[in-house]
Amino acid sequence: MQKRKVIIDCDPGIDDSLAILLALNSPELDVVGITVCSGNVPAKLGAKNALKALQMCSSLDIPVYLGEEYPLKRELVTAQDTHGEDGLGENFYEEIKEAIVNEGGVDFIIDTLIKEENVSIIALGPLTNIAKALMKDKEAFKNLDEFVSMGGAFRIHGNCSPVAEFNYWVDPHGADYVYKNLSKKIHMVGLDVTRKIVLTPNIIEFINRLDKDMAAFITEITRFYVDFHWEQEKVIGCVINDPLAVAYFIDRSICSGFESFVEVVEDGVAMGQSIVDSFDFYKKESNAIVLTEVDEKKFMYMFLKRLFKGYESIIDSVEGVI
Ligand code: RIB
Ligand code: CA
Repeated sequence: MQKRKVIIDCDPGIDDSLAILLALNSPELDVVGITVCSGNVPAKLGAKNALKALQMCSSLDIPVYLGEEYPLKRELVTAQDTHGEDGLGENFYEEIKEAIVNEGGVDFIIDTLIKEENVSIIALGPLTNIAKALMKDKEAFKNLDEFVSMGGAFRIHGNCSPVAEFNYWVDPHGADYVYKNLSKKIHMVGLDVTRKIVLTPNIIEFINRLDKDMAAFITEITRFYVDFHWEQEKVIGCVINDPLAVAYFIDRSICSGFESFVEVVEDGVAMGQSIVDSFDFYKKESNAIVLTEVDEKKFMYMFLKRLFKGYESIIDSVEGVI
């Protein structure tokens, strides 16, 4: 099977970390690099957290690059109330000494698109790095294969305001710039589908009977996030948004949706809202594929079987968990 080259642009972040674990355990993907921007936590901290996820998969050979530390125009507002001060559920893991964080995330994106064929980008955070790379060298993006963005919300309420999803709310100028300038269809994996991906206590209980190390890491980093979900939305468990973007990139049948013109509101009361012109009022060419349906079981089986190799049959046969 021909592996697909991907850059993962992210803001780790608890669910970003789970998405990195899924990507690194997926034979279809060749993760050529991880670029980090500020979002859940400041970029420098996020980059260190990315190293932790790589260490969990013995993949510290994959380069991590520090990208933009601030949104294009807005002041940085992080989500450390959700992901913990350290961005990994306040476990305050020891710093990884066996690898470094490189400078130049935006240039890495540009250089990789120029040098390599058929590179795709899976964006799991605010689109600041992507916007900056587009501003710096739009021509390079002509080589881009596909672009998947976890972000936005169509018919479902936001998580930062009644209408805005965090990634597009943190940097609405960056998000709108990308939607207007990428000139490739953006696969928008928004809250309409990701909200249905819940890591439940049953699943946590189950994985702790499988591979102890992987289960311990997932349990540790999600504890704080589970508590936040109960306090904030009276949800038992936690919504893991980002891994769905990776799973969908690998297997398109996991989500379905429709093509539409999308733009992001840059300021005012609806700042960060992804405006999905599903009735074609603007008569503008579609720039996005908006995902609205998801097979959550199909996702969870993929997620668990890839992170817990060797336990596939018990994952297939266990009752009342997935
Ligand atoms: O709104 C959810 C998104 O914002 C996820 O990517 C989460 O990690 C945060 O970046
Ligand atoms: Ca994220």
